[in-house]
Amino acid sequence: MSGALKLGFAPFAMPSKGVLIAFCNSELKFGPATRKLLAPAADQIRRAAAADHFTGKAGSALVIVAPDGLKAARLIVAGTGKADDPKAQDPVKLGGAVMGRVPGRESEVTIVAETADGVMKPDAAADLGLGALLRAYHFSRYKTKTKEGDERAKSVKVTIGVSVGDVAAARKAWSQREAIADGVVMARDLVNEPANILHPEEFARRAQALRKAGIAVEILDEKALGKLGMRALLGVGQGSERESRVVIMRWNGGKKGDTPIAFIGKGVCFDTGGISIKPAASMEDMKGDMGGAACVVGLMHALAARKAKVNVVGAIGLVENMPDGNAQRPGDIVTSMSGQTIEIINTDAEGRLVLADVLWHVAKKYKPKFMVDLATLTGAIIVALGQEYAGLFSNDDKLSERLTKAGEATGEKVWRMPLAPEYDKMIDSKFADMKNTGGRYGGSITAAQFLQRFVDKTPWAHLDIAGTGMGSPSTDINRSWGSGFGVRLLNRLVADHYEK
Ligand code: BES
Ligand code: MN
Ligand code: ZN
Repeated sequence: MSGALKLGFAPFAMPSKGVLIAFCNSELKFGPATRKLLAPAADQIRRAAAADHFTGKAGSALVIVAPDGLKAARLIVAGTGKADDPKAQDPVKLGGAVMGRVPGRESEVTIVAETADGVMKPDAAADLGLGALLRAYHFSRYKTKTKEGDERAKSVKVTIGVSVGDVAAARKAWSQREAIADGVVMARDLVNEPANILHPEEFARRAQALRKAGIAVEILDEKALGKLGMRALLGVGQGSERESRVVIMRWNGGKKGDTPIAFIGKGVCFDTGGISIKPAASMEDMKGDMGGAACVVGLMHALAARKAKVNVVGAIGLVENMPDGNAQRPGDIVTSMSGQTIEIINTDAEGRLVLADVLWHVAKKYKPKFMVDLATLTGAIIVALGQEYAGLFSNDDKLSERLTKAGEATGEKVWRMPLAPEYDKMIDSKFADMKNTGGRYGGSITAAQFLQRFVDKTPWAHLDIAGTGMGSPSTDINRSWGSGFGVRLLNRLVADHYEK
């Protein structure tokens, strides 16, 4: 849960308490409104900057407690660097970075949305708020005690100061950002939640809450999945006490009858590996093996909450991969919904089995313009790309290019990896149409080749988010284990290309 952050916009004004945040460039220059606000402390700021060797470099900050002549308890002057360094000025990151300088116990923060170059545009001011909110997120649902010194304010009121004429425009811009922020928070919460609480049925229940946002939600239980013939998916879940589910979410914000776009998520609520059981070290991380499904739920929320003008299908396959007397065995052969048969070589390669049936179902039933699936699919993608880029695999150059651009714009970056018939051959099986692993080499690629056998001709992209969806490095806008990766990326893809 985000430690309730309330965000508002108001004309530039001196707060009567709390933390005041202002920006200066690498010449220690403030914008005119900021200079006026800080006038009583101007001398002290100069002396403190000199004493602290603060030069306004991007990412640096000067903290002054009890600033002269100001009512704020603390003044944070954040450097934005040189004017010609646009990267240092990304307002989302900037908002996150300054929020990171605020002590956790503070309940009031005022940010002056002005740089040395002048007042920030309403969109940029709203972006500051998005960054601040994402940075302030903490998952503390299961903390019943706080250590001394770690106390946190129950809620934080953040006021972003903009020029008088821009207040309404900033609020409007914020209503869009708020939808996105809430979607990211939703995804993070789901990933952070432990698997004893968030089993497939509970996950489906939480997805059902999207109905409040105007999304149609359909939950398919095991009986319905059996009728559809989703035996690849059901085989993964058959060793668990918990039942499997598929959830279909539909947002129709576009023209009636317009072909939808589709997003599909891997929702393995816990992945023990099954009979091909995983080693104990770090197995607890496998509570996050539903990061793809979490992203789809968060994305659907974001799109509905900002009333995106597009028709969208979101589909998630929810299972728990457990070893028991009824669990699937290596050597078993299952018939997928597509009719293609699969020999199970390793029960730990379960994500592709789940996605195979959901991809096929969505492709055939909804005939979408394109499908993007997200999955914490392979450890191999972490070996290949580390935790900075998600792996992108696609049968469509245009979709790939758009995803790559959206990644650069949002900082949720993707790197395209190859697909080719030579890799596809590696999953041919002696006994069935295919096997579920392709050997040691190119593990992320053979996993993607497997998925491709279930998309037919539909334009499709697969994002392997094993490295980016959880336990990824801390950034200015994320300190949470579950990052919510993909929500901002795909929201951007939709906003830039698929809304009329
Ligand atoms: N959920 C894992 C992949 C994973 C690993 C995600 C580490 C996040 C962090 C997936 O189901 C899996 O176990 N993949 C196997 C595939 C192998 C058996 C072919 C893997 O990556 O080792
Ligand atoms: Mn696995
Ligand atoms: Zn898995």
